[in-house]
Amino acid sequence: MRNLALLLTLAAAASCVSAFRVPLYRKSGVRTPRTVKRQTPTTYKENLLNYQDNLFVGEIYLGTPPQKFIVQFDTGSQFIWVPSAKCLSSICAIHNRYDSTKSSTHQSSKLGYNMTYEDSSNVDLNFAGDTLTVGTLKVTNQAFGQALTMNAQFNDSSYDGLFGLGAFYLGGYYPVDDANAYVLAVENMRLQNVIARNIFSVWMNPLQFNQSHSTNGGEILFGDIDTTRFTGDIAWVPLQNPSNGEPPFWTIGLKGVRLGSQSVEVQKTAVAFIDTGMWGGDDIL
Ligand SMILES: *[C@@H]1O[C@H](CO)[C@@H](O)[C@H](O)[C@H]1NC(C)=O
Ligand SMILES: *[C@@H]1O[C@H](CO)[C@@H](O)[C@H](O)[C@H]1NC(C)=O
Ligand SMILES: *[C@@H]1O[C@H](CO)[C@@H](O)[C@H](O)[C@H]1NC(C)=O
Repeated sequence: MRNLALLLTLAAAASCVSAFRVPLYRKSGVRTPRTVKRQTPTTYKENLLNYQDNLFVGEIYLGTPPQKFIVQFDTGSQFIWVPSAKCLSSICAIHNRYDSTKSSTHQSSKLGYNMTYEDSSNVDLNFAGDTLTVGTLKVTNQAFGQALTMNAQFNDSSYDGLFGLGAFYLGGYYPVDDANAYVLAVENMRLQNVIARNIFSVWMNPLQFNQSHSTNGGEILFGDIDTTRFTGDIAWVPLQNPSNGEPPFWTIGLKGVRLGSQSVEVQKTAVAFIDTGMWGGDDIL
């Protein structure tokens, strides 16, 4: 199989929302513009760059006027974050940095999160809210982290930050502290009537044998499924422990693995994460 199609759906139920902690950025206190433009829900297909079949990145914009960032779309984590202009380290300096003073739609917050990923990369985040633009999709007041520190694992100028597409913690919120929660970007796209369907799908295009990277690295489609990107039927599988919010993985039961004519069965309790953002990962599927 040359192309691998990963289809991921959103498991949020609107009726659950009220039962959970407040989002980081509530509507109250934010002035409603006099003319509220009603968006027609749509879809957007973002092209991805593929680095070493390991890192799939694309561009997003934050702020007004928009500031550009290259992010890794990661179904294995929850937050969007980008380097902050306040980070002056040599690691931050090789990246695009978000300057809150240059955005008229910036909303500040005192909330922070010290984020360490599976591979021990670490960023110290200060949350903010701002307009997020992904191609033709625009979301207002999206929470994201401004990285005040980035460790040496981010000494890589091929991307600036992450775009979390993790599995929903019930209503689409993740706890940040006891009183506040983070609303996922895709959940905001749904709440703000930006996407046509409550779904996103990812197509990853493997490299040719002699390529180290490719600008035709794949696609992430917000709001739909591209049926030309796979053959056969979609198998819908239930998430394991979908109400068990952390870690934010799309976790499914795993009975076995087949590659060509070779197959391996695994023990009954095995689970797998559907993860677009795993580096290396020899020991974790
Ligand atoms: C964040 O956590 C890492 C890993 O535990 C630690 O090395 C770092 O000093 C922490 N950063 C801050 C700003 O607390
Ligand atoms: C980042 O990588 C460059 C070489 O690519 C190296 O010169 C520099 O020392 C590295 N910085 C850190 C903080 O590891
Ligand atoms: C990769 O291999 C193909 C087939 O041998 C060749 O046509 C192409 O020029 C190669 N590309 C690079 C970048 O080496």
